[in-house]
Amino acid sequence: MYLVNTISVKITDWFKLHSRPLPWREINDPYKIWLSETILQQTRVDQGLPYYLKFIDTFPSVVDLADAEEDVVLKLWQGLGYYSRARNLHATAKIIRDDYKGVFPAKYEDILSLKGIGEYTAAAISSFAYNLPFAVVDGNVYRVLSRVFDIETPIDSTEGKKLFKELAQELLIQDQPGLYNQAMMEFGALQCTPTSPNCDICPLRLDCLSFQNKTIKERPVKSKKTKVQNRY
Ligand code: ADE
Repeated sequence: MYLVNTISVKITDWFKLHSRPLPWREINDPYKIWLSETILQQTRVDQGLPYYLKFIDTFPSVVDLADAEEDVVLKLWQGLGYYSRARNLHATAKIIRDDYKGVFPAKYEDILSLKGIGEYTAAAISSFAYNLPFAVVDGNVYRVLSRVFDIETPIDSTEGKKLFKELAQELLIQDQPGLYNQAMMEFGALQCTPTSPNCDICPLRLDCLSFQNKTIKERPVKSKKTKVQNRY
């Protein structure tokens, strides 16, 4: 438990000094968080940012999005690819308008039940908007945890998914779940990067088992090759 707490605190301390100022941070509007996370699912931050701003400008609320014609939504999405994300976004906005009186649901289970919202996005919305204690697990989190704890279990195995989810949940800072989740993702995106992690100046140098064991380049382990997906 000592090690666990130390790591979470070091990563959140790092985040306070090094995080990028992004417009969906510092807000707690679940609609805007949902929108940003949906855009960022298969898109880099620098590419997704103008789309996020355009969407918020055109549809300031979830009801504005629900009331739009689908072709207007798809047109605004043009260039991002994976159009099912835009269709799900629009369909779910209508459900929130019609079944939830236009108010974004505030319970994790309700959020997870919405079309196009999986465990990752449900945890992100729950923690960033409502401060609920759900740890996010995305590619960044897999990489950071597999390195810090030098975990060989493949991240795409049933066992691995369960293990990393439990570990992330255990590391979660219970009274600051939003901060912790943002910090883990940002740490993976900027510091503990896939091919050239900056171990020389890493605040977790002394904690990181993979650094000690010289296995950084081999983490995380995947059992399958990644599937090539059609963006269009
Ligand atoms: N990628 C996915 N979600 C993100 C977020 N909230 N901030 C930065 N990068 C992200």
